Amino acid sequence: MKNFTLTMKDHEKVFLVDESKHILDSMHKNSINKAPNGCHGGGCGVCKIKILNGKFKKLSMSRKYISKEEEDNGFVLACRVFPMSNIEFEFIGKKQCKTNKEKKYGFV
Ligand code: FES
Repeated sequence: MKNFTLTMKDHEKVFLVDESKHILDSMHKNSINKAPNGCHGGGCGVCKIKILNGKFKKLSMSRKYISKEEEDNGFVLACRVFPMSNIEFEFIGKKQCKTNKEKKYGFV
């Protein structure tokens, strides 16, 4: 198991994560207030982030939440992404929620 740091832009939060946990789990584990209490399975879109720096592996993501253009520009769902290096990211999440289902999850 490898450990990396996650750095959340504009919040000066840096925390240690392991590669077997997706970024959303790591945010929750480290009590990051912006981490949404969503589905954790790619089905609601509330955990959208933009990767600014770093390598990662990702599971498939619904085009309903991440367009091809967004994906090409580093937007991902935090619950579908696993770090492979130190990562810097920006939280997008709730700003992108459009449906009532998405909005109901809110933030913890
Ligand atoms: S928590 Fe629902 S898509 Fe990530």
